[in-house]
Amino acid sequence: MKELDELNEVVDSLDGELNQINDLNELQQKRANYLGKKGPLAQIMAGMKNLTNDARRELGMATNNVKNKLEAMFEAKRKALEEAIVNQKLEKETIDVTLPGVSFSTGGIHPLYQTVMELEDLYIGMGYSVAEGPEIETDEFCFEKLNLPKGHPARDMQDTFYINPELLLRSQTSPVQVRTMLEKKGEPIKIICPGKVYRRDSDDATHSHQFMQCEGLVLGTDITMADLKGALLEMAKKMFDKDRQIRLRPSFFPFTEPSVEVDVSCGMCNGKGCPTCKGTGWIEILGAGMVNDNVLRMSGYDPEKIQGYAFGIGVERIAMLKNRIDDIRNFYTNDIRFLNQFKEVK
Ligand code: PHE
Repeated sequence: MKELDELNEVVDSLDGELNQINDLNELQQKRANYLGKKGPLAQIMAGMKNLTNDARRELGMATNNVKNKLEAMFEAKRKALEEAIVNQKLEKETIDVTLPGVSFSTGGIHPLYQTVMELEDLYIGMGYSVAEGPEIETDEFCFEKLNLPKGHPARDMQDTFYINPELLLRSQTSPVQVRTMLEKKGEPIKIICPGKVYRRDSDDATHSHQFMQCEGLVLGTDITMADLKGALLEMAKKMFDKDRQIRLRPSFFPFTEPSVEVDVSCGMCNGKGCPTCKGTGWIEILGAGMVNDNVLRMSGYDPEKIQGYAFGIGVERIAMLKNRIDDIRNFYTNDIRFLNQFKEVK
């Protein structure tokens, strides 16, 4: 029966055509072509009325088989196409966990503030508290009450930015000590005062018109130079390393008597002498002394009963030595390449 041959040809031709299809719409179209009313199977069925009963039954069964077969072929192809689509999508969405991550740009703590925070931690650990005061100060608190009356030649040590004859940008953090003394009215004091100060200096590698100090003031009974030396040695060992030594040299400050300048042994050469310490083995880091009786009296303290020491640390000095920075301007020019070196998370 030629119809049976035709049926087999339909299967063969579909087999070939399905291979070419790679899209679900196309497949749908093809399905309609093959299994629809105008398709080859429908045509074969239409010709059946001229056949004998037996032949019709035989062809009917064969056509049905082929129809099932075609359905199965279309179904298999549909599944294969759908699977391919899903796979393609998954492939696109695949995350390569070995790729380097994209990190967010974050800020960091400025190296000067890191140094201030270290100083604060250290002194808080020794029982000090932190006091702050305004950057715009009165002449009275910045100078007069620190034993620097108007016209005193030592005022030249600190060339100051005046706003008017009474107001200035503080040239030292010592006025915070005056403020604290006036507030505590004769009571013992143990404070540090970190903060910004201003001087009419020309900026160069070691000078800046604005820099930071961290001053300390300890007032109480029976406080001596030995206590001052102990507190400063402790600071040097904690801020630098445990092998550091300090050296006190006589000096002059109007608000302390006696006054000293304090050197720390050079960490580059361990005191042997090198270019950093200019061959001396020592590097100056701060000024200090026993608070001058006049200063105590002017702020309501009786020097017969209470006395103590004060010190003034240059924060940049410490930060430069700790981090081997040779130009103070680096702290203030905000070059991100410089600042990035001090970020904990880079
Ligand atoms: N205030 C002084 C300065 O700026 C430093 C200092 C503080 C010295 C306390 C002695 C005692 O030069």
